[in-house]
Amino acid sequence: MKKSSQTLFQVLEILQDGQFHDGNDIGQQLHVTRSAVWKVIQKLLTYNIKIKSIKNKGYALLEPINLLDQLYIQKHLSSHALSLDVFESLPSTQTYLKSLSNKSSPYICIAEEQTEGKGRFNRTWYSPFGKNIYLSCLYTFQKDISELAGLSLVTSLAIVSTLNSFYIEGPFKVKWPNDVIYHGKKIAGSLIEVQAETNGFSKAIIGIGININMLPTQDPQASSSWTSLREILDQYIDRNSVYISFLPNLISYLKKFEQEGLSAFIEEWNTVDILKNQKVQVKDLVYERQGTAKGINMLGHLLLEQEDGSLKICSSGDTTLIKPSA
Ligand code: BTN
Repeated sequence: MKKSSQTLFQVLEILQDGQFHDGNDIGQQLHVTRSAVWKVIQKLLTYNIKIKSIKNKGYALLEPINLLDQLYIQKHLSSHALSLDVFESLPSTQTYLKSLSNKSSPYICIAEEQTEGKGRFNRTWYSPFGKNIYLSCLYTFQKDISELAGLSLVTSLAIVSTLNSFYIEGPFKVKWPNDVIYHGKKIAGSLIEVQAETNGFSKAIIGIGININMLPTQDPQASSSWTSLREILDQYIDRNSVYISFLPNLISYLKKFEQEGLSAFIEEWNTVDILKNQKVQVKDLVYERQGTAKGINMLGHLLLEQEDGSLKICSSGDTTLIKPSA
């Protein structure tokens, strides 16, 4: 597995001003050869970073890009007991973390890109290089696995509270169980995998993707159903600053969940629940149901009032708001 490369990072820092820089000059500044610089540029091009190259002038960045700085993030989190690694590229932070057996909780694994990013229900999570947040967090709970049902809701609340800190009006909502939504468009999602351990402990791998600098207008995979923090705020965002505010926030939500359970979050959930009293469709691997969403129970399951008046408790699934026909 490849950790973030220092030279790649340094070349991008030099190009950050958007001006042309000659390969020789870059090489001299970094004490590497011109051909080593050329190789880094080729690598950056494979990551779809837009670089213009002109003979006798050198290389220029066509778009801002700010890479993750593991040391900077670690420095700002030094008072928090969590360890982290930043990778240049991984198939998926989730599968990588699941393959490790020796990490102590909490541990965070971050990638600049994922080549096989995973969403819920075996969907693909599009994860282009250097644009968004892709992380997986290993957290061991002193709880039985049956008590972790509300974990995806708590994770969504942690994401919302960090995103709201960037935006004065607090417009971010959650579509049960895990889609973070801004005015009908998805900005973040999480994928929770839990495993029972010995002595009543449980291990959770919490995968989180947040769209930060990806722009629907620029992206080949563009879809009108998603947005990003950059699109919302109309400015390029330094992901390092998002990480240093989000990671301690996430850990404090997880700790509170471990100590107090989901009941401590019900009120907060009610303020972001986008489905409450709306007509919805709930699809799981077997069934497709329709009804009116009536909030959640103490386990975080969705309460669905069906057309015959009966209440169905949904423990998992994908939800869609049914728009009233015009
Ligand atoms: C969803 O909304 O479907 C869940 C998306 C979860 C994506 C994140 S990105 C980091 C982690 N690694 C993965 O492969 N998936 C999760």
